[in-house]
Amino acid sequence: MNILFATSEAVPLAKTGGLADVAGALPKALNKRGVDTRVVLPKYEEIPAALSSQFELIAHFTVSFGWRNQYCGLLKAEFDGTIYYLIDNEFYFKRKGLYGYGDDAERFVFFCFAVMEAVRYMEFHPDIVHCHDWQTGIIPFLLKTRYYHDPAWAYTKSVFTIHNLKYQGLFGIDLLKDLLGAGDDMFLTDSLEFHGAGSCMKGGLVYADKLTTVSGTYAQEIQTEYFGERLDSLLRYRSGDLIGIVNGIDDELFDPMNDSALEVPYRNSISRKRKNKVELQRELGLPQSEEIPLIGIVSRLVEQKGFDLIAATFEELLQEDVQFVVLGAGEGRYEHFLNDAAYHHPDKVAVWIGYDDRLARRIYAGSDMFAMPSQFEPCGLSQLIALRYRTVPIVRETGGLKDTVQAYNEYTGEGNGFSFTNYNAHDYMYTVRRALALFRNEEAWKQIVFNGNKEDYSWNRSAKAYISVYSQLAAHRKEKESWPVIL
Ligand code: ADP
Ligand code: GLC
Repeated sequence: MNILFATSEAVPLAKTGGLADVAGALPKALNKRGVDTRVVLPKYEEIPAALSSQFELIAHFTVSFGWRNQYCGLLKAEFDGTIYYLIDNEFYFKRKGLYGYGDDAERFVFFCFAVMEAVRYMEFHPDIVHCHDWQTGIIPFLLKTRYYHDPAWAYTKSVFTIHNLKYQGLFGIDLLKDLLGAGDDMFLTDSLEFHGAGSCMKGGLVYADKLTTVSGTYAQEIQTEYFGERLDSLLRYRSGDLIGIVNGIDDELFDPMNDSALEVPYRNSISRKRKNKVELQRELGLPQSEEIPLIGIVSRLVEQKGFDLIAATFEELLQEDVQFVVLGAGEGRYEHFLNDAAYHHPDKVAVWIGYDDRLARRIYAGSDMFAMPSQFEPCGLSQLIALRYRTVPIVRETGGLKDTVQAYNEYTGEGNGFSFTNYNAHDYMYTVRRALALFRNEEAWKQIVFNGNKEDYSWNRSAKAYISVYSQLAAHRKEKESWPVIL
């Protein structure tokens, strides 16, 4: 089977969040299992020069969309057993950062058309094009409309994965009509129209052959009004084609035994882990002590991640003997709040605003606990990385957090973390306090930390689940191919 991943970010080239981790690690896991999986993404300015210089130009052509004709270069390189293609157009992608520009609609519609054209030059015929989030939602749409009879895409099926239903790529209908060269008939309720706007995500949700999302619980949640972001009825309508597959992490890339960002490598030794904690405290100017419990947070600073709960309880929790280390970037209100807290409590709070992979790894390793009280969480990779680094997650029971973290039970000794149900600041605070109390019980703490070691959080299980989704679609394709023979 040939699978083409179309994505707006992928490790090791460009990353803003968990999507990049998935689009890097899942193809690697699939390739290891003999499924030829390749990845295509835009050639951003952000891609480190040491990596972009390894790409060779394999083709260049013109991409026509709406009335536009734009240059497109296609580059190719292999990293760690996976072939990556880059779509090159400096006008659209030679900019700082990945998203957040006024012309994002045009940039990513161009990307989708460019992928449709690029396949002619790849010497690789995808059986499945696997698209991720709104930036690639237009691909399943094009496959079922403009490119339906195109030999370059003959028999190709599409899978669309929802990593986060909140970000939908909503733009004015006139703009999308102009970019897609499409008419009114493509902007009806059963196509791209969404409450008076045009939706790129609906391109995936309506037109893809299969839909997946990144945990079983989130697959259920998004079919309800509360989590459904006004798409729940469509998702209920497509529930027969929707499956939740929990993410894994790349256990080679995230390995405390083999991580150059860490001071002291470790696997199961709490005392070696705590040496990393003291190093982290030293680096961030906090009092150095193995005994003070340290709570880490590495996150986008957005409402989704539960920062309202964190803010509401911060001062009260700081009455305890505890330290907080926070790394993140995002909404100004949360950045200000955190900077302010660090200013007033320099001996208890260290905050680093920005994106920093090395510091993130040092926080995962140096923390005793990892806080992630998300309002909603499609899957969450941070709690999985925390578990891999023997750091105990404190989470709200939603989406993938519910599927991967089990609350510690004092009576049975089971559970790899702490959790609470309602999105309520005091429930969160009570749960943190309970974790802090158990931290002082050495035996119980050891048990919780080691329970985190029992589950396999790598891609082993979930890669198989994706292969089964692809195989079902490919089998369907074979039926279609053999149809005239049966006649
Ligand atoms: P989301 O994709 O919603 O942001 P995930 O938990 O799925 O959440 O994935 C977040 C990924 O991004 C993790 O690998 C996490 O370590 C990383 N990350 C988030 N913020 C930062 C940051 N400021 N610096 C470095 N890495 C970060
Ligand atoms: C999104 C979600 C996160 C998930 C990630 C990768 O960014 O917010 O929960 O882990 O995608 O699937």
